[in-house]
Amino acid sequence: MRTSPLILALPALATAQQQFPFVDQIKGWFAQASQSITSAVPSAPASIPIPDPIASGAAKIADLKVEHLTLDNHKDVLKPGAATAIPGIEEWMLFVTGGNKTCFGRCERAETAWNEAVPLIATSSTPPSLAKLDCETDGVLCNAWALSPPSVLHILLPQPLADQSLPATTVRYLNLNQTSVTATEIAAIHNQEKYKEVTPYEGFWHPFDGPLVKFGLNVPAGYAIWGFSKVPSWMFMIGVSFLSRSFM
Ligand SMILES: *[C@@H]1O[C@H](CO)[C@@H](O)[C@H](O)[C@H]1NC(C)=O
Ligand SMILES: *[C@@H]1O[C@H](CO)[C@@H](O)[C@H](O)[C@H]1NC(C)=O
Repeated sequence: MRTSPLILALPALATAQQQFPFVDQIKGWFAQASQSITSAVPSAPASIPIPDPIASGAAKIADLKVEHLTLDNHKDVLKPGAATAIPGIEEWMLFVTGGNKTCFGRCERAETAWNEAVPLIATSSTPPSLAKLDCETDGVLCNAWALSPPSVLHILLPQPLADQSLPATTVRYLNLNQTSVTATEIAAIHNQEKYKEVTPYEGFWHPFDGPLVKFGLNVPAGYAIWGFSKVPSWMFMIGVSFLSRSFM
């Protein structure tokens, strides 16, 4: 490690400080230099001991892929009996995040927690499939499914029955606390089946079985809401007053 000699030199410099007033300057320079070396060498943090749960899951990390969900691919990715599916009910965890506009820039903690939770979830004996949806780039799908970041959409996708009819899909909306969410908490949704503490959602906006989906209207509705969110409120007010006047 190239940084070590520099760090080892520091105590020596500290003792030398009494004799040489310029040592402070040199120390500052060394600190800066070693910092920039550390950040330039990605392998440096490898010497830091890794906590056990992550280490034990390390071998599996590569296995657990996080699908990037978009408006275009969501029907193919979240399809019962997809090529990746094992027979039976397929469990999915969809992490919903956003950016400055859709999450007011407060999703960073949740993002970090999610990234740390993925290897923890991989240690499970029956890991779910994972996906991620960014409301900043895929606002239409977020609105079509009434999702607000940061949250997790937990999905139990059934296989089609013998007569090709599709049993109901169980979905649960789990909101994450922007300021306090942790990786352990997210991992526990699956690993300790915490999702079971949340009542499945069966309302209007159900992403698979809701009335809007049945009539193919959830995506148009998503576009409409997303569109409204792009219209400045003053323009919206002018439109409303214009409409109401022409009806009166
Ligand atoms: C979000 O906002 C912060 C602060 O206003 C800014 O520094 C950052 O670049 C913005 N990020 C994006 C993706 O626009
Ligand atoms: C989120 O966590 C903070 C800190 O623990 C707490 O004060 C706040 O009430 C929580 N928010 C919600 C919506 O639960």
